[in-house]
Amino acid sequence: MGKVTEMNHPLIKHKLTFIRDINTGAKEFREMVKEVSMLMAYEVTRDLPLEEIEVETPIQKTKSQVISGKKLGIVPILRAGLGMVEGMLNLLPAAKVGHVGLYRDPETLEPVEYYCKLPSDVEERDLIVLDPMLATGGSAKAAIQFLKDRGATAIKLACLIAAPEGIKVVQDAHPDVDIYVGAIDEKLNDHAYIVPGLGDAGDRLFGTK
Ligand code: PRP
Ligand code: URA
Repeated sequence: MGKVTEMNHPLIKHKLTFIRDINTGAKEFREMVKEVSMLMAYEVTRDLPLEEIEVETPIQKTKSQVISGKKLGIVPILRAGLGMVEGMLNLLPAAKVGHVGLYRDPETLEPVEYYCKLPSDVEERDLIVLDPMLATGGSAKAAIQFLKDRGATAIKLACLIAAPEGIKVVQDAHPDVDIYVGAIDEKLNDHAYIVPGLGDAGDRLFGTK
């Protein structure tokens, strides 16, 4: 079963409060989504393997550690996942970025794929799938499956806010995927929105309605 890590850093909790606030405008919302994503990158990459290399300081040669192992890829689920890309890239500048376009059909609530463009060596990369919201889990479950169908084998999922229902759906469908979440909320409402959540992440990021 994939591990679930809920962020407990005060800076993340503080910023999530203002991300949730209905009075926060699009500019501040985008800025704070970026900042929380950057802080989450720290936790999501905690288990990256290290190797020792030799480096010469102004004083002498020494051994010091650098990240080794597989290359990284980040994969935002369009649209709202785009809001998390810049923050992640700030800490992981060498990562390549793939995109999976999905929207949730408002009638069936089922995810519909409309775009997929991934790094050509996706099967060699450690992938971090980004989506601010994990609600029913349908979108994340489908996006992860698209990645696996294209050869990906090492996948993590990073979300700002998750409902327990969505976490269970991803864990059941993809027990190999660890989930990193800013906050786990109470439940879904009748329209499959997260309660209390933050509303519609895409609309708040991009000013649509
Ligand atoms: C939102 C959100 C997730 C999805 C979560 O996207 O960004 O992708 O809903 O819901 P789920 O867990 O029930 O699938 P939406 O479908 O509204 O599309 P958008 O990002 O284009 O606004
Ligand atoms: N998508 C969102 O943007 N918000 C929710 O609460 C659920 C799905």
